[in-house]
Amino acid sequence: MIKSSNIQPDFDKLTVYDSAVLASKYTAKKIAELILQKQKEGNRAILGLATGNTPKMVYQELIRLHKYEGLSFSNVVSFNLDEYYPISVNDEQSYTYFMNNNLFNHVDITQENIHIPHTDCSSNQISEYCLDYENKIKSYGGLDLQLLGIGRNGHIGFNEPGSKFDSITRLIDLHPLTREDAIENFGDLDNVPHQAITMGINTIVQAKKILLLALGERKSEIIKKALNGTIATEVPSSILQTLPQVEYILDREAAVLIQK
Ligand code: PGA
Repeated sequence: MIKSSNIQPDFDKLTVYDSAVLASKYTAKKIAELILQKQKEGNRAILGLATGNTPKMVYQELIRLHKYEGLSFSNVVSFNLDEYYPISVNDEQSYTYFMNNNLFNHVDITQENIHIPHTDCSSNQISEYCLDYENKIKSYGGLDLQLLGIGRNGHIGFNEPGSKFDSITRLIDLHPLTREDAIENFGDLDNVPHQAITMGINTIVQAKKILLLALGERKSEIIKKALNGTIATEVPSSILQTLPQVEYILDREAAVLIQK
């Protein structure tokens, strides 16, 4: 285990905004800049995308940039971080539904360039499915940019506490706090799936650029641990402290416990 005292958090990589709107707009701007740069080079932009409350305003801003400022998603290839298992793609709580509703239906991304780790295959075929997802990302040369939220237990994607830092895309049991936080969407704990497919931590840390966005006071405790605490699998996001390509983007409320 690496002790945090060995590592000085690099606060150059941390930006704190006065509001969630400003933090989200900045995040969207970074994504848009990458898409435009790749367009100029005649290349595709390989984006790792996230779901949940945190990225919603980022996607709203990207839609605005598409509608009013001509930002095209025609060169974008997307890979989502995770999806509940099992779930129907038509279920309003599925991340396929979320992504269509919050972004894809409103921009000019090509349908075949969208990847979300959803499968109807039985549990004994899942590891093969997950390996295919992992290899698909590799076949595009890896992720140019990964957008992350953070769970209150420190998860990134659905890499729950205890996830190995060298983990790849796989089926995972959801942590009790993750399921509790999902009641807001599913209405009742009994309706919340017990499992999910998630990119692994190793999948995520291979991304050439990582933007971790955290908004609101309810994230302040975990942000303090993730940025300043011990690097350990109990707080999966703590591994990001070791990476040069990570940028933490916080609103003032999420940053309230961070010592600069
Ligand atoms: P949230 O979830 O954006 O809905 O707070 C973040 C996460 O669990 O990664």
